[in-house]
Amino acid sequence: MSNEKLLVVDDDALIRRSLAEMLRGLDYRVFEAGTGAEALRVFGQVAPDLVITDFNMPEVDGLQLLKELKARKADLPVILVTGYGTVEQAVDAMKAGAYDYVSKPILDDEMKLAIKRALDERSLRAENTDLKKRLDMRYGFDAIVGRDYKMQRIYDTIDSVAGTKATVLVTGESGTGKTLIARALHHNSPRKAQPFVEVNCGALPETLLESELFGYKRGAFTGANADRLGKFAAADKGTIFLDEINNASPMLQMKLLRILQDREFEPLGSNETMQVDVRVVIATNLDLPKEVEKGTFRRDLYYRINVVAVHMPPIRERVSDIPLLAEHFLARFAKENGKKIDGIDEAALDVLVRYPWPGNVRELENCLERAVVLTRNVRLTVEDLPPLMREGAEETPVQTSDDVVALKVALEDPERRYIELALRRFGSNRQETAKALDINRTTLFNKMRKYGLLEKY
Ligand SMILES: Nc1ncnc2c1ncn2[C@@H]1O[C@H](COP(=O)(O)OP(=O)(O)OP(=O)(O)O)[C@@H](O)[C@H]1O
Ligand SMILES: [Mg+2]
Repeated sequence: MSNEKLLVVDDDALIRRSLAEMLRGLDYRVFEAGTGAEALRVFGQVAPDLVITDFNMPEVDGLQLLKELKARKADLPVILVTGYGTVEQAVDAMKAGAYDYVSKPILDDEMKLAIKRALDERSLRAENTDLKKRLDMRYGFDAIVGRDYKMQRIYDTIDSVAGTKATVLVTGESGTGKTLIARALHHNSPRKAQPFVEVNCGALPETLLESELFGYKRGAFTGANADRLGKFAAADKGTIFLDEINNASPMLQMKLLRILQDREFEPLGSNETMQVDVRVVIATNLDLPKEVEKGTFRRDLYYRINVVAVHMPPIRERVSDIPLLAEHFLARFAKENGKKIDGIDEAALDVLVRYPWPGNVRELENCLERAVVLTRNVRLTVEDLPPLMREGAEETPVQTSDDVVALKVALEDPERRYIELALRRFGSNRQETAKALDINRTTLFNKMRKYGLLEKY
């Protein structure tokens, strides 16, 4: 069984020995000390997992010993044995950081339970910090918040492709974190010490974009007074992130295809071919297959960039992450603004969870920043949220016109709203939604069809 080390401290040898005996019988390795000073000495020698000490001892009493021990090892669980009927001692002990107290006369079962609880919790805590450390190491990016399974899958993908040179296509609506993921890919790659170069293909007119990407030779066009290196050359050995790729002109698409195939290009006005070693990450908020069908995006280029695809889910498909994200931004903006705000109240959180977030994480981020800057509360409340958001989330009252309609008809609207709410809570997972609503999946499906929700979720 267990072989944890316990230290029992009591100046009363009789009590100490009988407690130690009982604990040895449970297979713990038990050490004894008759004074506080001796206890500290033994503590230094054997590094016990838990200490049980009497409160009332001459010279160094249990409370002082507790403080001394905690100063040496803050997470050491200590159980105080307090005198019969002395509530104050128990209170003092807990305030000073005791894990628990047991009052005299000691009941074996009570003591056993207190020890077990303390040791169990300790190993649980150790596991948790370990997990967090492992996760941080793994993603190197505690800036990405999200526990939804869709996000977990994305972390897995990043984890497995970050180390490779594979082209990654990141898709998703505006504000879902595409840029963040592109950076994470770079920072988790062997290229992380090399440049990460970002180019927004939607922000520049076609000709400018080409010279921006590939550079030019002096005299290539009027105004080109000197040679200039482009972004691809600047990104050599590192990562280039091409955002809003759907804006690339047919000419540019052709050049990109060549870069992806052969990693080479010519600067404008030059017939000298340049070689680059770049990792390419591409983002778009359009549906590229549709663009391919329409003929505005080259099919061969699409196949080239769609080697590894990461789709960022919109917030409404990972509602369970809203509270996490909100807390994350709250803490960040409170710190930045030097404000003491310790959380978000239930009602406000409810509004946040119900709101559909068309602008995704960026909108949530802005919403929290605004709330933090404007609030005078120590806890964010509904009144700190934009009025529009509150209205949208408020229940529309049940019809109260004079016409009385069939009950079934009157209940349709609330039913639809409730089903939508549940779907959002469970990230559109129909199985979980049906289970939570206690209806079977076919019923849920039929109701979704009736209310036109099949497309939406
Ligand atoms: N999972 C997340 N955890 C924490 N912050 C996030 C997360 N996702 C996005 N953000 C933050 O939200 C904002 C928008 O993210 P980002 O710019 O990456 O979105 P995007 O998909 O690239 O948007 P766009 O399509 O407009 O370029 C950024 O400030 C980013 O830091
Ligand atoms: Mg972006």
